[in-house]
Amino acid sequence: MKNFRSDNEAPVNPVILAAIQNANQGFSESYGYDQWSLQLNERFQQLFECWCEVLPLTTGTAANSIATALMAPPYGAVYCHPQAHILVDECGAPGFFSGGAGLIPVAGADGKIDANTLTETLRNSGHHGEHELLPSAISITQCSEAGTVYSLAELKAIKAIADKHDLALHMDGARFANALVSQNISPAQATWQAGVDLMSLGATKNGAMMAEALIIFNPKFNKEIRRWRKRSGHLVSKMRFISAQLLAYLDNDLWLQLARHANQQAADFAEGVSQKAELLYPVSANEVFCRLPITKIEQLEQHGYLFHRWPGTKDVIRLVFSHATTPEATQQLINATIK
Ligand SMILES: Cc1ncc(COP(=O)(O)O)c(C=O)c1O
Repeated sequence: MKNFRSDNEAPVNPVILAAIQNANQGFSESYGYDQWSLQLNERFQQLFECWCEVLPLTTGTAANSIATALMAPPYGAVYCHPQAHILVDECGAPGFFSGGAGLIPVAGADGKIDANTLTETLRNSGHHGEHELLPSAISITQCSEAGTVYSLAELKAIKAIADKHDLALHMDGARFANALVSQNISPAQATWQAGVDLMSLGATKNGAMMAEALIIFNPKFNKEIRRWRKRSGHLVSKMRFISAQLLAYLDNDLWLQLARHANQQAADFAEGVSQKAELLYPVSANEVFCRLPITKIEQLEQHGYLFHRWPGTKDVIRLVFSHATTPEATQQLINATIK
């Protein structure tokens, strides 16, 4: 196994595949009225130790876009990191779904919004009245696009700013499980207790097949969410196959086991190459960004290794470790990198 390009390229975990198979017993109600979908709210409420509403979806882009529509009016502004998936990788879908909301980049080291820069950005807004977008929400990615994790203290600082300016707080949790196990905190602590109003929860990268969810923690944003889902083309008729995956994902802490494994592979790789490669960001989850001599990058490619050369750089590559990356594959990559 030489594929370190993306956890999206990893296979489906067999337990989740079996859950799809189990849900494939004859006929069942459509559009979310099946026995699996009907369990979701209660299951997630147990897990997060609070009221919440869960919308199973097939893509993270859909979750982020519906979240944006719920948080921001067509004339709203959503603050996010310049590398944020919602800003650079979703073809404008969040703005489109919300009817026009704008995404405003707020820089920060290690792929995370810097609280002081956010404060400064907000201080400089609001002076042009109706001529400018209305500050409406902040969206953070956990883990970030740099593979780093916002600490609870960092989240708290951002939440304080959100409260001061009456902004909603959204978490793009495409790799939420990886962030959770890296911090060793509970799902509740990592989300609503830290002030997160809505979260896009990813499962696809961590073992599922096209299974994501939008979770609403703050009832204020629970308005007509089912219509938003339908209008966006994401009310899936055979929803049972997504819901069955989400239930299996959580059962017996499978999601945490898979994420722990992926994170461990990344940590082992980072440690194994640390003398020979410059790591661009702290390795907190399952992604490693490293700078290598170009000849080494080419050599790895010639040996069949798959990874992303990072856009805008000559000598930086991104390696993604997944639930399905074997320790042997990680060790072989270490050997190939340092030799
Ligand atoms: C940070 C982040 N958010 C969201 C997504 C969801 O994307 P998709 O719409 O492809 O499921 C991804 C996928 O790569 C991601 O990396």
